[in-house]
Amino acid sequence: MFVFKSIAQLSAHLEQRKSEGQEIGFVPTMGALHQGHLSLIQQSLAHQCYTVCSIYVNPTQFNNAQDFEKYPITIEEDVKKLVSSGCHVLFLPSTDEMYGTEVSATKSDYGSLTNNYEGALRPGHFDGVITIVAKLFQAVNPDKVFFGQKDLQQCMVVNRLINEQFPTITMQLIPTVREASGLAMSSRNVRLTDEQRELAVLLSKAIFYVKDEALKGNSIKQALVEAAAGLQLHKEFKLEYLDLVHMDTMEHAEHVEEGKRYAVVIACWCAEVRLIDNVLLTE
Ligand code: PAJ
Repeated sequence: MFVFKSIAQLSAHLEQRKSEGQEIGFVPTMGALHQGHLSLIQQSLAHQCYTVCSIYVNPTQFNNAQDFEKYPITIEEDVKKLVSSGCHVLFLPSTDEMYGTEVSATKSDYGSLTNNYEGALRPGHFDGVITIVAKLFQAVNPDKVFFGQKDLQQCMVVNRLINEQFPTITMQLIPTVREASGLAMSSRNVRLTDEQRELAVLLSKAIFYVKDEALKGNSIKQALVEAAAGLQLHKEFKLEYLDLVHMDTMEHAEHVEEGKRYAVVIACWCAEVRLIDNVLLTE
């Protein structure tokens, strides 16, 4: 696996591969890699792409200083995992390389996509995501990019960025990889104690319960209320939202209509760790 820290060296290497007719597949990450990240790499390889993974903990997307400081960094293990996954290139830039001296995010307003749910609860988060993803897309110039459905709203935001600024890129949305318990894999899970990790399983149980009720034709409103009440019995949890949304706009949905795409989304603090998850009604 090639490792590049500079944009100039990375793009010279990738331009060479492109001139040989290879398609570039790109998986941006913040490291602390787990099976969820590796499934994106596997998908890129399965698409026959020359595969680039980036690891960069982007400061401008953290609206909470503690979350940024405590973000796990496990670069040696990450490199081993990437090598055994068959990833071709690791891009490992510094903040200086990505931002120069101006470490700030450009403001973007994609309406409900950037303003609702994660956008409302993490002010400035999507400005940071859009800024870094655009910089990474410029550096890598990929043909295909692979994003995890685990961060559904991020996928929808990046999809809009691609439509507006990078029309030649195709985006693939990859299903969430879960622990056997149902807990969605996340780099932040390592900050949970064993007991909290067991409790955190209730988040996925809640969204799957609401989905099942919806598919049975039962009242979604009631299912949401019941599931939220169940979570609130545990003092470790602080529920931020549990809701049915229109997947393409991230707007609240009252009920389900034929031919439209929906998801049940959740964000909940488990002690000091903020967790998110979602499930599509159609999967
Ligand atoms: P990070 O949280 O490291 O996630 C990198 C990619 O892995 C994202 O596309 C995310 O949705 C995906 N992912 C995370 N957990 C997953 C799981 N359990 N199953 C499948 N995919 C999963 O998302 C970011 O980094 C950053 O915001 C980034 C896009 C890199 C910009 O800084």
